[in-house]
Amino acid sequence: MSAENNKLGELVSLLKRRGFVFPGSDIYGGLSGTWDWGHLGVLLKERIKNEWHKMFVREREDMVTLDAALIMNAEVWKASGHVEGFSDPLVACEKCKRRFRADQIIPTLGVGIGPHCPECGGPLSEPRQFNMMFETRIGAAEDSSSVAYLRPETAQGIFVNFKNTLDAYHPKLPFGIAQIGKAFRNEITPRDFLFRAREFEQMEIEYFVRPKEWEEHFERWRMLLHGWVARIGIPESAVHEVEVPDGERAHYSRRTIDFEYDFPFGRKELYGLAYRGDYDLAQHSERSGVDLSYSDEVTGERFIPHVIEPSLGLDRTALAVLASAYAEDELGATVAGGASEKRTVLRLPPALAPISAAVFPLLKNKPELVARAREIYRALVPALPAVMFDDNGNIGKRYRRQDEIGTPWCITVDFDTLADGTVTLRDRDSGVQTRIPAEEIVAAIQTSL
Ligand code: GAP
Repeated sequence: MSAENNKLGELVSLLKRRGFVFPGSDIYGGLSGTWDWGHLGVLLKERIKNEWHKMFVREREDMVTLDAALIMNAEVWKASGHVEGFSDPLVACEKCKRRFRADQIIPTLGVGIGPHCPECGGPLSEPRQFNMMFETRIGAAEDSSSVAYLRPETAQGIFVNFKNTLDAYHPKLPFGIAQIGKAFRNEITPRDFLFRAREFEQMEIEYFVRPKEWEEHFERWRMLLHGWVARIGIPESAVHEVEVPDGERAHYSRRTIDFEYDFPFGRKELYGLAYRGDYDLAQHSERSGVDLSYSDEVTGERFIPHVIEPSLGLDRTALAVLASAYAEDELGATVAGGASEKRTVLRLPPALAPISAAVFPLLKNKPELVARAREIYRALVPALPAVMFDDNGNIGKRYRRQDEIGTPWCITVDFDTLADGTVTLRDRDSGVQTRIPAEEIVAAIQTSL
């Protein structure tokens, strides 16, 4: 097993053991392509979404948000081209009956080897297009009029609310609508942990612009995506832009740049930045009969705006953030308090850590220490995003547990706290402890958040 695969194995096992992510429907043997997020994973995702919201909505004047329904009218997906074209080429092994995405396995086969099953070597069928949308039925009727789809992208919820947004807020171009939510794809081969799932979350922006200004906005969003990646602690050197060539782009796209990341299982797509032209609004205008054009006060023209779309998968973001943060290192004897100490640590940016600070009484069986530690803990709860109280096991073990879940700060209440009101504040990355007055904890920590 390669070192990188080994790293993924270690990370997956840490995330299950420490309650970030579990396999979906685990006690029934799992359900391929689904994952359940535990407490710490929920907190991590919340913090990523919060940063995204801060950077792309709260800190700007040209963005509004939306939370559209997950089940949408089938007409939406006919107009968007997904019923017709949202498919991957599927091949099946005629011997073992396993199914594969043809584009994923055929390029890996050598010249003259012929398309054979990568699992059993059996012959493969001719490729056929397999539509990835999950179909469901609305109400009790069983005919075709009751068919509805779970959305395979959150984007269409934005396009079908374009007119509602114009009418409600009268935004001026350029402006964007941002949405976070679940998307569903019946992937032929879900794989690589959270990377390709059948149910996942997207953080999408449809940014509406004047047609002749699309290139400058595309460039701006390209830079903003690099700023985002840096903000969430993903090293810039691990992110690579790939221009998607003609013929390989999604049916709606006139230009796409994929942002790829060096995942432990290889360099793969993290995000997409697409120029969708007026494709979606024009399609929905035509099919719904509702005018989705925009009247430009500046030029006096009426036209269908064009769209730049930065599309970010939340689960892939969490995986890239976690993979970037995962480290095994050794604290020197001076900070480990004796012999040097090997540890596993998530070096998450403090603004993303599921727990921002953990408070410990030095000894569990000294009621005066526990009472003072609880007091400090209660005072920190309203001041910091997430605080934890822990009196389990010895102090060294508590530090190691917090290092493993990426807690940037640990606060220990000891006998000096009772005498002079100071606590020790331990920094996750260096292991260094400093003594500060208890009332200065919030200020010391907040600067890092
Ligand atoms: N609205 C455009 C769109 O959906 P996409 O490239 O198909 O474009 C955008 O998806 C992002 O959603 C991807 O870059 C990835 O981060 C995430 N994503 C797509 N399929 C996924 C899957 N099966 N599992 C997890 N994340 C996925």
